[in-house]
Amino acid sequence: STIPVVQKLLDKMTLDEKIGQLNLLTPGGGVATGSVVSKDVEKKITAGQVGGLFGVAGPDKVRVAQELAVKHTRLKIPLLFGSDVIHGYKTTFPIPLGISCSWDPELIEKTARVAAVEATADGINWNFSPMVDIARDPRWGRIAEGAGEDPYLGSAIAEAMVQGYQGTNLSHSNTMLSCVKHFALYGASQAGRDYHTVDMSKIKMFNQYLPPYKAAVDAGVASVMSSFNDVDGIPATGNKWLLTDLLRDRWGFIGFVVSDYTSLNEMIPHGFGNLQDVSAISLKAGLDMDMVGEGFLKTLKKSVEEGRVTENEVTEACRRILEAKYRLGLFDDPYRYLDSERPKKDILTPEHRQFAREVAARSFVLLKNHNGILPIKKNAKVALVGPLADSRKNMLGTWAPTGNPDLAVTVIEGFKKVVPNATISYAKGSNITDDKELAKKVNVFGQRVVIDKRSPEAMIEEAVDAANTSDVVVAVVGEATEMSGEAASRTDISIPESQKKLIRALVATGKPIALVLMSGRPLTIPEEFDMPVAILQVWHSGVEAGNAIADVVFGDYNPSGKLTTTWPRNVGQIPIYHSVKNTGRPNPKGGYEKFKSNYLDVPNTPLLPFGYGLSYTSFEYSNLRLDKSEINQGQGVNVSVTIENTGDYDGEEVVQLYLSDVVRSITPPRRQLKGFKKVMLKKGERKEVTLSLTENDLKFYNSNLEYIAEPGEFVVYVGPNSNAELSRSFVLK
Ligand code: IFM
Repeated sequence: STIPVVQKLLDKMTLDEKIGQLNLLTPGGGVATGSVVSKDVEKKITAGQVGGLFGVAGPDKVRVAQELAVKHTRLKIPLLFGSDVIHGYKTTFPIPLGISCSWDPELIEKTARVAAVEATADGINWNFSPMVDIARDPRWGRIAEGAGEDPYLGSAIAEAMVQGYQGTNLSHSNTMLSCVKHFALYGASQAGRDYHTVDMSKIKMFNQYLPPYKAAVDAGVASVMSSFNDVDGIPATGNKWLLTDLLRDRWGFIGFVVSDYTSLNEMIPHGFGNLQDVSAISLKAGLDMDMVGEGFLKTLKKSVEEGRVTENEVTEACRRILEAKYRLGLFDDPYRYLDSERPKKDILTPEHRQFAREVAARSFVLLKNHNGILPIKKNAKVALVGPLADSRKNMLGTWAPTGNPDLAVTVIEGFKKVVPNATISYAKGSNITDDKELAKKVNVFGQRVVIDKRSPEAMIEEAVDAANTSDVVVAVVGEATEMSGEAASRTDISIPESQKKLIRALVATGKPIALVLMSGRPLTIPEEFDMPVAILQVWHSGVEAGNAIADVVFGDYNPSGKLTTTWPRNVGQIPIYHSVKNTGRPNPKGGYEKFKSNYLDVPNTPLLPFGYGLSYTSFEYSNLRLDKSEINQGQGVNVSVTIENTGDYDGEEVVQLYLSDVVRSITPPRRQLKGFKKVMLKKGERKEVTLSLTENDLKFYNSNLEYIAEPGEFVVYVGPNSNAELSRSFVLK
């Protein structure tokens, strides 16, 4: 495409000026996630060496930087202002993994809309979100930032988030460029270690890992961030197959590609040459903008002079960045996002906070409810214990650099607000961890783990005393926020030992116990799951965490979240996910069988399956039917089921549809998610729910990477999780 304003500018630009546009810097005001922070930023802006900044926020600060570009450079080209607005801007929502458990794309789109309204009010016009990396290894700390393991759900969420950020018109002052990341396959880092290598077959990529990125591209995402890892042995940032052949030529992406933080420079230790080499390789591969590392700035001119890259390649990268600025309307008004009145009006409004509270409650997953311990009666005497019950710094969750932890509501505050007349006795009970080395690592962004001066025994004793004098115990346990997230991988993903001891001591009191479990990832909890307790998984749930937890614990909201990741029994089962293949020696009955595909020490099944989540009420599924038993290519099938609320509370249920393609030219997964609907049912109510399987839902990428549906039998399963039992089959002719 040729946009006249952009073409006119390009015609006037020198090679240096074009290279300048490809440079993204950060003055390091926010949280830097690498060892490098840009230097001489002002000087570089006025020298025309900068295309965008991130880590600068607030209309007044942004204006100062924008004026440098618009008033002091020869061509007055405005800057982009980026930021990591991952789960809300100042109104922090739950971590994305938590939000995904709502299975509610409309709700998720609204969280992105609220985030865009707040971020743009602060002068930001480009968001490094959504992160759509499929993650099937909970050791990987960044599993917290995405939507879990499934490509179908992940695609729906990717699309919703892009729409939420970008709206219908990017030149409105409350919409922003979205940036889908990390392209590609970052979530498949080997052994769950961050930044590790990725090696994957094309079949797996196309069928399991690439769909959410493609969904974002199909939704019109304006930019793409390349990932740190290699793909097929070539670092993503310099991977031509990925950035050009697939992204642009096959998928038709027309926006611009930015590197991750110094990921271009990191091609040197990857083993790809020196800065001169890797910069040239990356530009030629299709990278348009270089984040922080300044490889493009330092080397591209020489590479053009030496004929290693062409000026035309620089021009095309520059064109894509200028087009993004044009789409934002910055050439009409570079100050369009800079209204000093807006932050007061648009940020952290009571409506936004109320919405964050609702979203948080909808992200919680009830894992177990022994003897109906939850919800707790509002007049009960409650012992509120655990190291996360009064821990403001751990409420927002990882990667909330624009949020303010001091504004978060703690669990104890939430309880006091929601049940002001209840008797609540509080005891910390244990440290998050007693491991001082771990605490030091986790505390790099602030005091997340505070190790008490008292002995562990004294702390437990205090909690047990509180339990013994109460009707019921709520123990808020789990991970500190920075035990997940970037560069926060763990090989042991259980509840830290200090807290396990506390839980054991509480259970020994014989009191009814509800564990409120906070974490940024699935944990291995076989021991706790076997105890006679209730377990409510609340992730790290944002600025309204404490209020939302109280709403659910005391029954003002009936939990409806469903897991978007499989929870393993132990780390030895990882990677573990619902759409596994059968193998040639399956063991469908469970239990150990010699010469079958299984383990000696644990069953193949996870502790908790994908899609799992309980409610305070119960639902029964019946009467599954299809509107056709035979279809032709190009047709779909309508699937209907009856669902009844058979319990004592009104509640919502996520009805899930899984499909099994019985025989096909590449071995099929056992079953795959292909539809879902969230429905509300009053106590005793019964509803017919219809889900549509479309032509596309039957398709997959075959060995030639053609997207096709093959004739044969398909089995449809519908139910409350990925072990759904009701089934019917149809034939595609
Ligand atoms: O957007 C992030 C990315 O997810 C990880 N590295 C740093 C980038 C910019 O902050």
